[in-house]
Amino acid sequence: MTMERTPSVLRDKFGRVATDLRVSLTDRCNLRCRYCMPAEGLDWLPGAEILSDDELFALIRIAVERLGVREVRFTGGEPLLRQRLVDLLARIKKLTPTPQMSLTTNGIHLGRHANALADSGLDRVNVSLDTLDRDRFVAITRRDRLDDVLSGLAAAVQAGLTPVKVNAVLLRGINESDAVPLLRYCLANGYQLRFIEQMPLDAQRQWSRSEMISADETLRLLGSTFHLSRAPEPRGSAPAEEFLVDGGPGRVGIVGSVTHPFCRACDRTRLTADGQVRSCLFSQQETDLRSILRRGGSEDEIVHAWRAAMLGKLAGHAMDSDGFVQPVRPMSAIGG
Ligand code: 5AD
Ligand code: SF4
Repeated sequence: MTMERTPSVLRDKFGRVATDLRVSLTDRCNLRCRYCMPAEGLDWLPGAEILSDDELFALIRIAVERLGVREVRFTGGEPLLRQRLVDLLARIKKLTPTPQMSLTTNGIHLGRHANALADSGLDRVNVSLDTLDRDRFVAITRRDRLDDVLSGLAAAVQAGLTPVKVNAVLLRGINESDAVPLLRYCLANGYQLRFIEQMPLDAQRQWSRSEMISADETLRLLGSTFHLSRAPEPRGSAPAEEFLVDGGPGRVGIVGSVTHPFCRACDRTRLTADGQVRSCLFSQQETDLRSILRRGGSEDEIVHAWRAAMLGKLAGHAMDSDGFVQPVRPMSAIGG
């Protein structure tokens, strides 16, 4: 006789259910975007603290088989710096039920890996790109890699990792003038562009509300050239508000993380590269699953710890309020 395991989901005390797991595969990166980390990089997590492939697989398997996770998104740092990633993806794709898998990358290594990633079962990619101008790319990322990102994007489409989404962050006085050319470029190449409001998650803690280009300001910048109208379908749990460009079918998304928070519909849970569950990007608390794994704790123990972590999820991030406290970990060590 087989024992029926109690089905459970990651439900928080506001009734939201997390079905989307974001996994940070490494906190390292080969760019140094100024809204993310300083030029000299950060004190990276020590190798011994990073989950091994087997440990990562064990936790993702539990999330999918026991906790109702239906989509796994890989982030970093830069996730393509993780060795043997395709083997890990292929193992995850064999789980039942088969999860959707996507990857948020800076695109530099996509040209090299897009086909292998698609073969391993990856469904789609999000690529970060804030400008099409080489000098401004260097000014923002502190590396001269624009061409690699553009060829990475093309390779992603070729490999069928579609729809390819492009994430752009606008910075005051630096790349506002890129908003229109970025949208033209993405429409022409079939990439789905989304502008994301800059969030207080930089390691240098230099974010300021007044420096941020808001969703409304982005709409005004684009409105100088395009006619934008709200897309008809409801937003659901998607963070981006979608707009039709010049009547469609072209679209653009605006992620108003700060000024139009989407916390009420949040369906996310997060796992850091060192095995800590976070119920939100902005959590002040983490739950240490790595320790449970490494001392040989049972699967049930991990299930309980993960569920308890999500019960502590707050209603919202309060990023726009005076009492807001930035989390200790920067974005690159949490996963975007
Ligand atoms: N605010 C908004 N977006 C950010 N990203 C990185 N740091 C920030 C920030 N402080 C974006 C990256 C990438 C995704 C993971 O998040 O550009 O597209
Ligand atoms: Fe790297 Fe992404 Fe941070 Fe840029 S934003 S430095 S690509 S982790």
